[in-house]
Amino acid sequence: MSHSHQSAQPLSSKRSLPLKGRLKPPGDKSISHRSLIFGLLCVGTTEISGLLEGDDVLRTGEACRALGATVIRHSEGRWSVQGMGLGSLMAPKHVLDFGNAGTGSRLMMGVVGGHAIRATFDGDASLRKRPMRRILDPLQLMGVKIISQAEGGRCPIIIQGTAEPAPIEYKTPVASAQIKSAILFAGLNSPGRTVVIEAEASRDHTEKMLRHFGAEVTSVAEGAHGRRITLEGRPELRPNPVVVPADPSSAAFPIVAALIVPGSDIIVESVMMNPLRTGLLTTLLEMGADIDVLDRRIEGGEDVADLRVRASHLLGVDVPAERAPSMIDEYPILAVAASFAIGETRMRGLQELRVKESDRLEAVAQGLHQAKVDCAIEADDLIVRGRGHVAGGGVVETHLDHRIAMSFLILGLASSKPMTIDDETMIATSFPTFKSLMIKLGAQFEQA
Ligand code: S3P
Repeated sequence: MSHSHQSAQPLSSKRSLPLKGRLKPPGDKSISHRSLIFGLLCVGTTEISGLLEGDDVLRTGEACRALGATVIRHSEGRWSVQGMGLGSLMAPKHVLDFGNAGTGSRLMMGVVGGHAIRATFDGDASLRKRPMRRILDPLQLMGVKIISQAEGGRCPIIIQGTAEPAPIEYKTPVASAQIKSAILFAGLNSPGRTVVIEAEASRDHTEKMLRHFGAEVTSVAEGAHGRRITLEGRPELRPNPVVVPADPSSAAFPIVAALIVPGSDIIVESVMMNPLRTGLLTTLLEMGADIDVLDRRIEGGEDVADLRVRASHLLGVDVPAERAPSMIDEYPILAVAASFAIGETRMRGLQELRVKESDRLEAVAQGLHQAKVDCAIEADDLIVRGRGHVAGGGVVETHLDHRIAMSFLILGLASSKPMTIDDETMIATSFPTFKSLMIKLGAQFEQA
């Protein structure tokens, strides 16, 4: 179990020469978690290539094993899962420890909820702070029992699932692919139709992959920006190979690095361009970023492209709240880009950032203060007043949050003084090759 954090490893980054070269970021975290879960729910063997081998995803693999699947790593990124099949999962013999992973734990609560098994969900100090009522509430409506939970609906949580999840129609209280997906995974074993309604469309990987594995799912527009998703219960899921595209949320770090380090010119390969994930790209282009989208193509059922990114003079922009679901994980690195822009960037409607791996709104503002960037939080908005250059210096607290860690290391590549983060270890949850790939482009890091 990983409740206490092992030894923290500080790291500094410093002003670097122009970044040059090509890189392919690791596999998408959302699709990687889901590919293992679908493998578990199919009878037969699901082949996966390009799987993200980050700690978060490996924990989901462990959970699949605990629920009866045979999960094998063949070579880097090439994995296979021999599943138990929908309705036939085994009760795990030990606690399912998801480490830092909100996605893995929440999706798996839905999976367990749709089976007559009992399981304990737990994780590290960050995961233990994250709200789970948003998952437990709809699962309870489906007939799942919460045997125990820590205060406020937090981990550790013991769930007793049901073999007959009630078909429900559920309007999610916030735009969250994790809530939507947990309900759909539980609804897979329901004898009826499960409907999820979201006021703002969130990432649609679960819906796409449900279809890929043979389930019947429809998704239609609802209101101005929303969706109504309908799943027919008890489909026959059939194994189908998954090719995981490169994670746009990881690609965001080298992209912003190349924009802010003068003279840089890089190519980021095979980046997933699913329109529900490209909010950062839209925003950076509005800021005047020099990014060419090259060789748009389809890989593994998703739009992908290579992105050529050159150092740019950025301008502040207003980022509307409706864009948040399509770039929810990218605000920390957008705030870094905004620090090097000229003028004010206002990022609206960021309440969900408060319940990520850390309170990201606070963590970003504190980090920017350390770097002497002029910024403020007004209600749920983050305002960054950029001056085209950043002083830097200071130590940033990462609060067990990988994206805070990577964002401030990127800031230090272009600030006048080096930036130090208190701990780099969490980067391994989503982007274990971050440092080595960035060093290949010319980034300068130093063990603090
Ligand atoms: C994810 C959904 C998002 C995102 C997370 C991955 C997913 O969370 O922040 O990193 O794979 O479904 P929310 O559903 O809480 O918005």
